[in-house]
Amino acid sequence: MACSGNASRLAALVAAILPWTVMADAAGPSRPPDAEAAAMRERMVEMQIAARKIKDPRVLEAMRSVPRHRLVPEQAARHAYEDRPLSIGHGQTISQPYIVALMTELARVEPADRVLEIGTGSGYQAAVLAELAGHVYSIEIVEPLARSAAADLRDLGYGNVSVRAGDGYAGWPEYAPFDAIIVTAAPHKVPAPLLEQLKPGGRMVVPVGPSWATQQLKLIEKQDDGSIRTTNVAPVRFVPFTRKPVASPAD
Ligand SMILES: C[S@@+](CC[C@H](N)C(=O)[O-])C[C@H]1O[C@@H](n2cnc3c(N)ncnc32)[C@H](O)[C@@H]1O
Repeated sequence: MACSGNASRLAALVAAILPWTVMADAAGPSRPPDAEAAAMRERMVEMQIAARKIKDPRVLEAMRSVPRHRLVPEQAARHAYEDRPLSIGHGQTISQPYIVALMTELARVEPADRVLEIGTGSGYQAAVLAELAGHVYSIEIVEPLARSAAADLRDLGYGNVSVRAGDGYAGWPEYAPFDAIIVTAAPHKVPAPLLEQLKPGGRMVVPVGPSWATQQLKLIEKQDDGSIRTTNVAPVRFVPFTRKPVASPAD
């Protein structure tokens, strides 16, 4: 069938556009340039975090500083500052920026603090904590995630973060006690070794509850006399705290 005038113009247009489209796809997704990413972070802090009443200026500054787009898989980089969790592979996620800010504010991290994180994932929460703490110790049960987070954090210059692959249930007794502990996967019950490794005066932030259902984000404060005060902060949905064994350390 012959093309009409309009149809042939359309065909020419499609032919002109198509190679560009194919080339763009072939080149694949890319990370936003640093200046564009900084502007995206500024909007994220203003509209998702400060707007939801996160007030600690040190937390807001840390959220402005950490290049989240450099810690997610490349295909997710342009979505890094959206108001949602993202897949990081291996069936795991990087939490929504607001939840990272909320957990960080609840942990009340001071510059000399030693902080334990269970669930390194992408390394993003560890980087935010590293902006505020003396040293961050982070454990990840999925070994490839532990390795890539350790490498990315090193490349970004976070010399005050140690990552190891393993089951975080037993904590990291060699570096205990900790001023703050953040757990980014949901156990059914708070692991007893983590409570033991919290300093008197220390804070633990942990989602507790059933797998793949609504859990309760808890702030657990160990008093100077060793007693525990627990506050329910908000309903949340985190990936489950798993217990499968993992072999070698990431660094
Ligand atoms: C919500 S994701 C990670 C979020 C991460 N903090 C970030 O900033 O990307 C929770 C992580 O906890 C890990 N995890 C689950 N159970 C664990 C366990 N027993 N010990 C250590 N890591 C665990 C998962 O593999 C997953 O990577």
